[in-house]
Amino acid sequence: MFEQLDQIEKEAKAALANVQSLDDLAAWRTQWTGKKGSLAQASQSIGKLDPKDRPAFGQRFGAIKQALSEQEATLESRLQSAALHEELEEDAVDISLPGRAANIGRLHPSTQSLRRIQHIFAEMGFQVWESREVESDEYNFELLNMPAHHPARDMWDTFYVQSDDPQQKVVLRTHTSPGQIHVMRTLNPEPIRVILPGKCYRYEPVSARSEMMFHQVEGLVIGRNITMADLKGTLANFARRMFKDDVKVRYRPSYFPFTEPSVEVDIECFICGGEGCRICKKSGWLEILGAGMVHPTVLRNGGYDPAEWSGFAFGMGPERQTMLRYDIDDIRWFFSNDGRFLEQFG
Ligand code: FA5
Repeated sequence: MFEQLDQIEKEAKAALANVQSLDDLAAWRTQWTGKKGSLAQASQSIGKLDPKDRPAFGQRFGAIKQALSEQEATLESRLQSAALHEELEEDAVDISLPGRAANIGRLHPSTQSLRRIQHIFAEMGFQVWESREVESDEYNFELLNMPAHHPARDMWDTFYVQSDDPQQKVVLRTHTSPGQIHVMRTLNPEPIRVILPGKCYRYEPVSARSEMMFHQVEGLVIGRNITMADLKGTLANFARRMFKDDVKVRYRPSYFPFTEPSVEVDIECFICGGEGCRICKKSGWLEILGAGMVHPTVLRNGGYDPAEWSGFAFGMGPERQTMLRYDIDDIRWFFSNDGRFLEQFG
């Protein structure tokens, strides 16, 4: 009986020395120290022993069981930490790999143009004013010298907004010019030198040249001795800064109800140098903005006496100017949200 115990101890230890993994160890436990293992089976034979030998057998059995359990526990913790190490190594993140570059957005080409325009006028002492996009019919038309049924209104059809007041028509502004009245009524009787950038809306067919939503930058200068020469000097300087140092500027007579006289400002085509090409439609000139001396009625509506005050105003479209600068063939690219277009403007 005692020899059987010794034999089990020897074989169990030898088997333990060959255990390589936690799975091996579980199998070893089943075979040797588990409930139905060899050691447990040997213990059942205690009943066949002479009662006087039983204590010694019990002691011997206990000592072997303890020794095997201790060795098993030591091996188990060693195998567990080895398994953990292996797992950590497999899951390790290689921090030396270069990361994926984040796609940093960029400014929309219209925003870039607006900033450029603002920068140029800021250098000439202009303040930037933001005026509302939703206007009353009164501000968008009437106060700008276009009473109801004035034929010039046909140039600027727009979207109407529901209003609680049946007397007051509310519209999305067709141009930034109503801002002129807001500025005059706010700053009067001070002189004025402001630009008013912002979005405008028109109810007209969308085409390669015309959007239903686009930006404008309005300009307004009011003072005591402002003349057409100030208008020409300011706008020629703007054209040179915006397009080309030695660009030629031309003023063509035009008509706007809120300016008198009115002009259309053109620059010599910088693509063909005035020869005539596809961009300038063979004319040699590119139109960049509308302008004029503020109409006496508009001055009065803003609270300035035309006998004492005079001024000039202008309005330009940054999208059309951007199209000229970059030879963009269709204005619809601006707001169709196509990344392939937008990412070209770094
Ligand atoms: C006006 O809107 C006048 N308020 C400009 C003005 C202001 C004249 C102050 C005198 C004094 P016009 O309708 O021409 O004028 O528009 C001015 C500019 O807005 C155009 O030259 C063009 O660049 C831009 N624009 C007009 N309609 C569109 C459109 N549908 N899509 C894109 N840009 C447009």
